[in-house]
Amino acid sequence: MSDTTCDDIVAALTEVGDRTFALLDPITDTDQTRQVSPLMSPLVWDLAHMANYEELWLVSRIAGTPTRAAALDDMYNAFEHPRWERPSLPLLGPTAARAYYEDVRAESIRLLEKLGLDDSDPLTRDGFVYAMVVMHHHQHCETMLATLGLMGALPAGSGPLPVAPGAEVHVPAGAFTAGTDRHAWAYDDEKPAHDVEVDAFWIDTAPVTNSEFRCFVDDGAYTRPGLWSTAGARWLAEEAATGPLVWHDELDPAAPVQHVSWYEADAYARWAGRHLPTEMEWEKARRSDVLGGTTQVWEWTSTTFAAYPGYRAFPYAEYSEVFFGEGYKVLRGGSWATHPLAVSATFRNWDWPQRRQIFSGFRTVRREG
Ligand code: AVJ
Ligand code: FE
Repeated sequence: MSDTTCDDIVAALTEVGDRTFALLDPITDTDQTRQVSPLMSPLVWDLAHMANYEELWLVSRIAGTPTRAAALDDMYNAFEHPRWERPSLPLLGPTAARAYYEDVRAESIRLLEKLGLDDSDPLTRDGFVYAMVVMHHHQHCETMLATLGLMGALPAGSGPLPVAPGAEVHVPAGAFTAGTDRHAWAYDDEKPAHDVEVDAFWIDTAPVTNSEFRCFVDDGAYTRPGLWSTAGARWLAEEAATGPLVWHDELDPAAPVQHVSWYEADAYARWAGRHLPTEMEWEKARRSDVLGGTTQVWEWTSTTFAAYPGYRAFPYAEYSEVFFGEGYKVLRGGSWATHPLAVSATFRNWDWPQRRQIFSGFRTVRREG
């Protein structure tokens, strides 16, 4: 997508709008407004937050005009209000939030068609800021799917598809180029491209499946603190002693396990006498084209989220920079809920190691030979 046209952008904005409303349409107003978990926003917050983000970047910044209401900018600023607090705000209801979204969309497309893509401004060159908004909205669709999952209201056919039975593949020692210099359709935290030396390793060709994870559960893993890291054992005792978040007989044994925390992934790897891959091992294997099943579940890596050498925040530090050095773990790949425009070999996702309401799984590596 390096030569993105205005038509491509209109099509991508229209598609993500359609996707958003298809997710919300079957949900009652009550369910769109309530908070299913303190970890998630009410669905109407996500919707109006998308509208506000688009108003800030594709209307206000593009036209050089103020936003319509400072109160909306505050209410839908993720940094002003943590998720647990959002249901107590005077949020726009489902109808008003949808009208806000559609109104902003009409204005952002009108401005795009009037002004085109100014090559001399890095914000618009190659469609950068439009791509940023499209990817942002698709990420929020995935967030809404996680909320719907907690509500037991996922659309039919949701979930990871079965993967080809696991094997492992050898990746020889040597340098590779990590990250990207692509301007649009990439985030600042993926840049710049840089060479990284990686020792030889063996990596699973598929994410760990439900049937494989069941062996770990049936082996009593959740009652064996010795299998867990210190922080993982604490998490187990305080939050997760009852076992996996999602565990029932209808799970497809051949599909990747999902809704596992980093601690569970790490304990499984220990139990199997293996390790979680580092973020760089994962990316090197992915670029060598030896990984299967990379778009079914997000895959935990052992790496703590941090800046690449030469990182520069663009266009705002709150996308990634403020999360560096806080102890977030990097996830790679993408899930069944991630739109293709929002995944790539270099995309970096991150979350707290205790989180498992996301569509998270993992694969393992070993480093001898
Ligand atoms: C990259 C998925 C961690 O949801 O917190 C959405 C994406 N950034 N709005 C998040 C994001 C701003 C972000 N993750
Ligand atoms: Fe957001």
